[in-house]
Amino acid sequence: MKTRITELFGIERPIIQGGMHYVGFAELAAAVANAGGLGLITSLTQPSPQHLADEIAKCRKLTDKPFGVNLTFLPSVTPPDYPGYIQAIIDGGVKIVETAGNNPQKWMPLLKEAGIKVIHKCTSVRHALKAEAIGVDALSIDGFECGGHPGEDDVPNFILLPRAAEELKIPFVASGGMADGRSLVAALALGAEGMNMGTRFIATKDAPVHENVKQALVAASELDTRLIMRPLRNTERVLVNAGVDRLLEKERTLGPAVTFADIAPEVAGVYPRVMKGGEMDAGGWSCGMVAGLIHDIPTVKALMDRIMDEAEGLIRQRLARTLPLVPA
Ligand SMILES: Cc1cc2nc3c(=O)[nH]c(=O)nc-3n(C[C@H](O)[C@H](O)[C@H](O)COP(=O)(O)O)c2cc1C
Repeated sequence: MKTRITELFGIERPIIQGGMHYVGFAELAAAVANAGGLGLITSLTQPSPQHLADEIAKCRKLTDKPFGVNLTFLPSVTPPDYPGYIQAIIDGGVKIVETAGNNPQKWMPLLKEAGIKVIHKCTSVRHALKAEAIGVDALSIDGFECGGHPGEDDVPNFILLPRAAEELKIPFVASGGMADGRSLVAALALGAEGMNMGTRFIATKDAPVHENVKQALVAASELDTRLIMRPLRNTERVLVNAGVDRLLEKERTLGPAVTFADIAPEVAGVYPRVMKGGEMDAGGWSCGMVAGLIHDIPTVKALMDRIMDEAEGLIRQRLARTLPLVPA
C-alpha cells in the first residue's frame, strides 16, 4: 500500500507503532520495522542517553529496515537530558523522530540539521496547525479514544480526523482506537495517510512486557478504561484496576484541591511494576478503548499481515461492491 506516509518514511505499510513507556524497546520497534511498518523506541524509558544509544544499536542488529525514536516532552521540574537523548538519536543514525507532549519547536533546528524527519503527535487541530507551521514533516492525530494522554478537548476521531484533513497540508496518520483492517480503511477514508497504534501492539508476542498485561488487554472490554488526572489537566486514559479505583476515589473526595502528591502512589513508578512485574493492580498505565477490539495475542508480523489483508479485502470487495459496475 502506498500513501504519503509510506513515501515519507520509506516503509512498506502505513502503520506506525507509537512511542510507549516501558513497551517501546528495541524488540518491538524491530518487529514492526521487519513487518514493514514504522517501529519506535521510546527514549524516556531509557534511564540515560547512553542507554538510549545502546537500545538504538540493539535495534539496528535486529532489523535493517528504517525505525524511529519517540521523544516525549513532559512538563517537569527537573527535565530529562533532552540534548543528550537527541545527540544519541543523531549519533545512532536514526532518521525519524516522533515528538509528543509539548511543542517541539525548541528542538526542531537540531533535528532538521541532522536530516531527521519529525512526526509530531497531538490531540487537536490547533496544535497540529502550530506543529505544521514550525516545520514538522507529518502528524499523528490522537483522538479522544486513545490510550495515554488524549488532551482536554475530548474530540473523537470521527470528527477530529476529517477536521484535520480540512486544515492540514502535511500528511497525518490516525491515532487512537486503531486495531485492524477496518480501522486502517476508515482512517484513509477520513483523510489520514495511515494509522498509529499503541494498545493493540502491546498484545503481541513481540511486545517485551509481562504476559499478565497482554492477558488483561484480551480480557478487557471497551468499557474498561478510565480517565485519571483530569483535575490536574493532565488527563490520561488508563486500564481500570484497584489502584486506579483508589486514585479516582481520592480525586472525588479531594475535588479540585487534589494535587499530584495525593495521587503519586497510584501513578509514580507504576510502569515498571506493571510492564515488567505484571502487577496489574499497581495503578494507572495507559490503555485505549480499543482494548474492546483486542481478542488475541498474535506476532507483530501476523497482526500486520492480517490488517493489510483485511484492508485490501474491504477496499476491493465490500466497498467496491457498493458501486455497481454500470457503464457511464
Ligand atoms: C502503555 C502505553 C504507554 C504510552 N506511552 C507513551 C509515551 O511515552 N509517549 C507518547 O508519546 N505516547 C505514549 N503512548 C501513546 C501511544 O503512542 C499512542 O499515541 C496511543 O496508544 C494511541 O492510542 P491507542 O492506544 O488507542 O492505539 C502510550 C500508550 C500506551 C498504551
